[in-house]
Amino acid sequence: MAKGLEQRFGIDGKVAVVTGGGAGIGRAVSLCLAEAGAAVAVQDLDEKRAAAVAGEIADAGGKAISMAGDASDSSSIGPMYQRALDELGGLDITVNNAGIYPFTDFLEIPEKELDKVFDLNLRGSFLATQMAGKIMSRQGKGGRIINIASVQGLRPTAPGVTHYNVTKAGVMMLTKSAALELAPSGIAVNCVAPGVIQTSGTQPLIDADQLGDPTELVPYGGRWGSAEEVANTILFLVGPAASYITGETIIIDGGYLLR
Ligand SMILES: NC(=O)c1ccc[n+]([C@@H]2O[C@H](COP(=O)([O-])OP(=O)(O)OC[C@H]3O[C@@H](n4cnc5c(N)ncnc54)[C@H](O)[C@@H]3O)[C@@H](O)[C@H]2O)c1
Repeated sequence: MAKGLEQRFGIDGKVAVVTGGGAGIGRAVSLCLAEAGAAVAVQDLDEKRAAAVAGEIADAGGKAISMAGDASDSSSIGPMYQRALDELGGLDITVNNAGIYPFTDFLEIPEKELDKVFDLNLRGSFLATQMAGKIMSRQGKGGRIINIASVQGLRPTAPGVTHYNVTKAGVMMLTKSAALELAPSGIAVNCVAPGVIQTSGTQPLIDADQLGDPTELVPYGGRWGSAEEVANTILFLVGPAASYITGETIIIDGGYLLR
């Protein structure tokens, strides 16, 4: 990379934590941030997946650690950041990616499922943003926090995910509100709102034809998105080039919401 570009987009020497980093978007983000020079703590409920991604990073010459943990649980989020501080030497970037999207008709959503979706997608992102904000404020060198929303948080495009949609709308307001309060500490909080992205989580839905036909639904490209396309946007948001952006949500959907 030309030196000028590296100064604008490189994140050499930064430390990043990615939740749900063992698969899908989280995996792509972990690999992308590591390739751009960050040391990455890959966290996932599934220990083996997290370890495999950390292994991929190490094999490519990068620095990573893996950790098993539940991103909805504060007793797991605290130690996650502590390990990044102890083993990687700080915390500059956190990507609150872990999320679930069970499909159940609105009238049938059991309270247990509602709690699970809210606990991980909204409460987990809230707690992680709060804890990362505390650590970054204490460090006194700013930081970047990224939340993952969804186009579904802006417009319900499919039935069966009302609980999910509410959490993702909440994540966008969490991003704005935290951005306002953390700005004086030099901490930017931003969000991405992907459309349908082909991941291990969505592949079964795509295969079952549950998400519709991308050639009709996606004006720009006529296809679903890739996890790497989300990771590229996040790389921009956590790097020097995004030095004047906070509280923002970037939609990554090939124009899906334009229709
Ligand atoms: N794929 C899409 O179309 C799409 C679109 C918009 C937003 N998103 C959001 O992107 C994020 C990732 O989605 P994906 O499709 O890559 O998911 P995925 O199911 O492919 O992968 C999610 C990973 O998170 C892990 N995980 C699940 N629960 C966890 C928990 N409690 N703690 C820690 N890790 C946990 C899983 O083990 C898995 O490795 C989610 O927040 C999702 O809502 C996805």
